Amino acid sequence: MKKTFSPYALFFVLVIITACNSKPDFNFFYYTPEQTAVLAKTLNLPEIPDDYTIELPIHLRNAGLAPSQVERDKAILGRVLFYDKKLSKDGTIACGSCHKQNLGFGDDRQFSLGVNNQVGERNSIALYSVASFAAYYGTDINGASAIPFFWDNRAATAKEQSMGSLTNPIEMDLHMSEVTDAVRNQDYYQPLFEKAYGDNAITSDRVLESIANFVNAMGSYSSKFDVEASKAGLYNATQYANNFSGFTATENAGKALFMQHCATCHSHNMGRPPLTFANNGLYQVYTDQGVGGRSNIASQKGTFKIPTLRNIAVSAPYMHDGSLKTLEDVIEHYNSGIKPHANLHTALKASNGTPKKNFLNIDQKAQLIAFLNTLTDFQASADTRFSNPFKQ
Ligand code: HEC
Ligand code: HEC
Repeated sequence: MKKTFSPYALFFVLVIITACNSKPDFNFFYYTPEQTAVLAKTLNLPEIPDDYTIELPIHLRNAGLAPSQVERDKAILGRVLFYDKKLSKDGTIACGSCHKQNLGFGDDRQFSLGVNNQVGERNSIALYSVASFAAYYGTDINGASAIPFFWDNRAATAKEQSMGSLTNPIEMDLHMSEVTDAVRNQDYYQPLFEKAYGDNAITSDRVLESIANFVNAMGSYSSKFDVEASKAGLYNATQYANNFSGFTATENAGKALFMQHCATCHSHNMGRPPLTFANNGLYQVYTDQGVGGRSNIASQKGTFKIPTLRNIAVSAPYMHDGSLKTLEDVIEHYNSGIKPHANLHTALKASNGTPKKNFLNIDQKAQLIAFLNTLTDFQASADTRFSNPFKQ
């Protein structure tokens, strides 16, 4: 039989080429029509699945950050779970209630509201303060060198952390069996589990694993600070001390002050913090002992996780107890309010051992704040891969 070139075939090839060009991950029937119908009743999920590949900019790769990649379909399922209020005792609270994307995935309340309007004693941690959870958090993916989760470093993995929030009586207050029941009762989870696991068996382990994939996909690395650091391809602390060409004189002056007074603890590249916890002289007498409250080790009393400061300008209030309302208050704490404490870190002491004091004048305080403002990542806060997928 003579081969003819059908115009229909040509048309089809063109359609495919155009589709492939605009959307490299194009997949004609990602969800079946039946699955699409079920999902679309409740959720706004893209027909073409979002890509959760983590691509860190050059300066963070130069710093040795090599994130384990997450599994896309588990991250998509995890996104829905993260925003699902049905995963709480009274149906009012989701992870996203205390971790709001427009606030760097933190909360503007000093103490977030949990089920039945209960409040805890710690300020929500801004998840976008971290460059990439997958790059240095979680002993499951980063071994013994992993940074632990929570103000008191009590969770080793994202799964453990999520279980803590879901079952905490003042947060979501469910037993894991109630979590899986709540998930089973929603028809939109069937297709999502099928995609993520090849079947629709709903187990607590899968729920936790999927939330962990979503959290591990999170990170913020597109701030003005990152644009400058990646443009220059920076790799060591000395280079970070040089002026950034795209920074204003005020921002550069603030950066220099930060490198001098703050980077020992908060890191020079806003990546992996050099220390996992410290005492920063917030109080002379602490009601919450932080890491030491859990370990009961004297030298750890009054010590807390050292948060990285990405998106710090949008994640007020500050400190483990949300006691400082503004960045001005924070700077004032370091400049004139550091309290003597047996465990006060040496970086915050003068040479005679007393708390460091009055090392910043009025201009320098403003410069430091201008620098902290360069850490806001507008791209990350608008990233729809991490937004609430629920309709209404
Ligand atoms: C009622 C508010 C609330 C809810 C609901 C909540 N969180 Fe949190 N989250 C917090 C607070 C407060 C902290 C800090 C607690 C502490 O350190 O003891 C925190 C800490 C975290 C951390 C640690 C970040 C770090 O850098 O150490 C992660 C990750 C996290 N939450 C993710 C989640 C996930 C996932 C869920 C849902 C399964 C969730 N949270 C639900 C308030 C909440
Ligand atoms: C000794 C290590 C250390 C040094 C030096 C240090 N910090 Fe901190 N910082 C901490 C610790 C620990 C916390 C958390 C303390 C707590 O919650 O009780 C913290 C908390 C913060 C927070 C609040 C973060 C949040 O998410 O709530 C900001 C902002 C901050 N520091 C800015 C600075 C600035 C600016 C400097 C330099 C002037 C500085 N820090 C120097 C250890 C340090």
